[in-house]
Formats: sequence, C-alpha cells, structure tokens
Amino acid sequence: MKIFLCQVCGHVAFDGAPEHCPVCGAPREKFSEKNDLLKKEGDGTVGGEIEQKHVPAITLVKTCSLIPVGCLDVHVKVGAVEHPSLPEHHITFIDFYIDKKFIARTHLTPEHCHPAAALHLKTSSGTLQAVENCNIHGWWFAEKAL
Ligand SMILES: [Fe+2]
Repeated sequence: MKIFLCQVCGHVAFDGAPEHCPVCGAPREKFSEKNDLLKKEGDGTVGGEIEQKHVPAITLVKTCSLIPVGCLDVHVKVGAVEHPSLPEHHITFIDFYIDKKFIARTHLTPEHCHPAAALHLKTSSGTLQAVENCNIHGWWFAEKAL
C-alpha cells in the first residue's frame, strides 16, 4: 500500500497524494511518500504492550441513540489497552476513511479527551480505516469492514 504523508498536519493519504490536503489544505508538494510509516497489529514492527496501546480498536454500533434511523456508529479507541492521555504522551488525532478515502478527523487534547473518537455514518458499506498519531510513537493503522 502506498502511503503519502502531509508534512504540515500529519494526514496520511493512500495510493496517491491529493491536490490539496483534505485536513489542512496544504498543496500536493507538501506530501512525501512514506510507505513504511504506518504500524499495524502483527506486522512485526513493534509488538507487545506498545502495540496493544496504539493499534486503533474499531467497534461498530448498529443502534444509534442520536440518529435512530439510517445511522451506523463507529467507535475508535486507542488501543485495546488504553493509551495514556498526558501532555507529554498522548494521541494527537484520529483520522477516519472509507475505502481509503478520507472522511473525518478528530483532534484530541490530553487535558480533556480520552484516546477515543466516534462518528455517525450515513454509509453502511465498504471498509472503514482508522489512522491515529501518537506524539511519541507515530502513526498506527487498523481497518474493519462495515
Ligand atoms: Fe504512545
């Protein structure tokens, strides 16, 4: 999988650099190809507790209490073992994609936020990808079929 990193805001694009970053608006020239950037479960790059605290854990919730009809909730927690949320070590953002096309970013501040985010999707088909960034341990990836 080809990975392109926005050097301005840390957004990851798959398969090609966009004309403009969908998060910060930076032009294509600000993207660099970084095919080994994303770590994921079981890929042998890290393992153990570090991996358990960073791989996004994706949960699908079919019954939404906010939007009762036609809504699929996606919950992402970092990670299976909860990541710290401290000024010196925290999750800076979680980016969401469907079929590797960017759909949303949640910025997280350690003073107030747990390392988690949720979306209310109109879509109920395709594959959801989540990319999170840890200020110390970098970019982590997981995906799940909707
Ligand atoms: Fe971390």
